[in-house]
Amino acid sequence: TEEKSADKVWEQPWGEFKKIRDHHNELIVHLQETAGEKRLVDIIFRVFDDGLGFRYHFPKQPNLDKVKISNEITQFTFPFDNDVWSIPVHRDNSYYESTYKKSPMSKTDTINTPATFETKDKLFVAIHEAALTDFASMTLLKSKGNQYKSDLVPWRDGVKVYAQTPFNTPWRTIIVGTKPGDLVTSTLMLNLNEPSKIEDTSWIEPSKYIGIWWGMHLETFTWGQGPKHGATTANTKRYIDFAAEHGLDGVLVEGWNVGWDGDWTADGKALSFTQPYPDFDLDEITKYATQKNVRLIGHHETAGAAKHYESQMEEAFKLYNSKGVNAVKTGYVNKYLDKKEWHDGQYGVRHYRKVVETAAKYKIMIDNHEPVKGTGLQRTYPNLMTQEGARGQEYNAWSNDGGNTPEYMNTLLFTRMLAGPLDYTPGNFGFDYKLPQGAKVQTTLAAQLALYVVLFSPLQMASDLPENYVGKPEFKFIKEVPCIWADTKPLDSKIGGYNTIARKDWNSENWYLGAITNEEARDMKVALSFLDKGTTYTAEIYADGPGADYKTNPYPVAMSTQTVNSTTVMNLKLASGGGAAVKFTPVKK
Ligand code: NOJ
Repeated sequence: TEEKSADKVWEQPWGEFKKIRDHHNELIVHLQETAGEKRLVDIIFRVFDDGLGFRYHFPKQPNLDKVKISNEITQFTFPFDNDVWSIPVHRDNSYYESTYKKSPMSKTDTINTPATFETKDKLFVAIHEAALTDFASMTLLKSKGNQYKSDLVPWRDGVKVYAQTPFNTPWRTIIVGTKPGDLVTSTLMLNLNEPSKIEDTSWIEPSKYIGIWWGMHLETFTWGQGPKHGATTANTKRYIDFAAEHGLDGVLVEGWNVGWDGDWTADGKALSFTQPYPDFDLDEITKYATQKNVRLIGHHETAGAAKHYESQMEEAFKLYNSKGVNAVKTGYVNKYLDKKEWHDGQYGVRHYRKVVETAAKYKIMIDNHEPVKGTGLQRTYPNLMTQEGARGQEYNAWSNDGGNTPEYMNTLLFTRMLAGPLDYTPGNFGFDYKLPQGAKVQTTLAAQLALYVVLFSPLQMASDLPENYVGKPEFKFIKEVPCIWADTKPLDSKIGGYNTIARKDWNSENWYLGAITNEEARDMKVALSFLDKGTTYTAEIYADGPGADYKTNPYPVAMSTQTVNSTTVMNLKLASGGGAAVKFTPVKK
């Protein structure tokens, strides 16, 4: 064995904390087969105050070179049949778009990570992985007793991982806390990733954006050509004008490129990543955006045709870079990648990494939809800004189960968010749309504001149609709320019940608070002890107004101001499916 320890502080280019302390003890156990080929493996443990990671390292050695891994038998055994918040691994939905449910471990089958346990001895435990690199992602197969076994996502041929010594597995991680918020503040996953490979990060710009997007999901626009084509030059200019007027940084435009006509999911090979449709003048639009100090946000939907995308990727990033585009949303809508491999197998892991690395070459930030789950790679590639990998706002347009429930919204902070930033696309202000599926945004408007504080994303969208923001005083909060944070302090919360969190702006002395609740209306008393001691603040409060209720009347927002300090206990009234968002600005002396 070998033992080491580390205690150092490193700085993030963006995140939920400015500085991160990496304080751990390491134990390396060198193992050798006692007979036969005498093969070698090391197990490396890193133990932090709030949990641990361990990984297997296979050194270069005479009797182990190229390997096909057929199984991993890491087991996670609990003393009790605890409750676990999780999403199942069901292969018709391989990009994590399910509702987190709580159930006893014994009632689950194979689940995805992060999996969040509420244990019988009152602990909150999350199992996940860090630094998923050239490997298959780990799911958890319920095995005997109170145990899960690592179940690696296979290739089409059944092999789990192709590797060659020397190689490492990703870190298998366990975070342990006494309250749900302890999982949120853990930086163990980031600490277990490699430092940034991008030296100059000055081009990486966390930002807020709007998009020609929700209109497609509401079916008022189409991605493909025709009378309702959303991505026209005129329409895009209208969005750019709106962004410029309201100080938003970017405009995402989907359906701008050749390949969307007809059933675009059938075969992504029709998609071109360099050729715009004739009614979308890329040159004119990007020039117009630059004049208005706004950027076009690029879109690369691949429909899962990963190899086809790889063949054009370099040219496509080069083109965007030449036009001043510095962020691209990617997409992989399809059960398989290249009609055969899972998104979360080694095949997908390799592809997504290639995209992030290539994008970095052209100074492009990535917002990846239908991704493999996040495992902290944003530390190594800080241009991997945000990902989907969850049921996002779009489910509130077309899902045939009614949309994302208030309970679901209150699980995300302690489940999906442990995998890193989420492009949920909050900010819905218009609730009166009607689609045949009958889905609906199941929060109040005030709760939509709170989501900007609750759900971290360094590229953060204001997802609604611009016309739904016009004349709405509450829009001020979206314009002002930051999307990166110097500090994060989760407050009293119950997974699936209610979430309260305070965050300090990265660039100023302002604090923000977000609170949301499930179907239950609540009177909350929030102690503002997170505020800097000795400073007086003006609190601008956006709370559920009289009669607010997510089912019957999501609109009323009560806006008020209050003078507060770190000893104030603030009363917040949250409606059913409601929330509150607060901005705290220091009062100038
Ligand atoms: C699914 C993505 O999540 C959504 O945001 C996007 O609009 C569609 N794919 C089309 O790319």
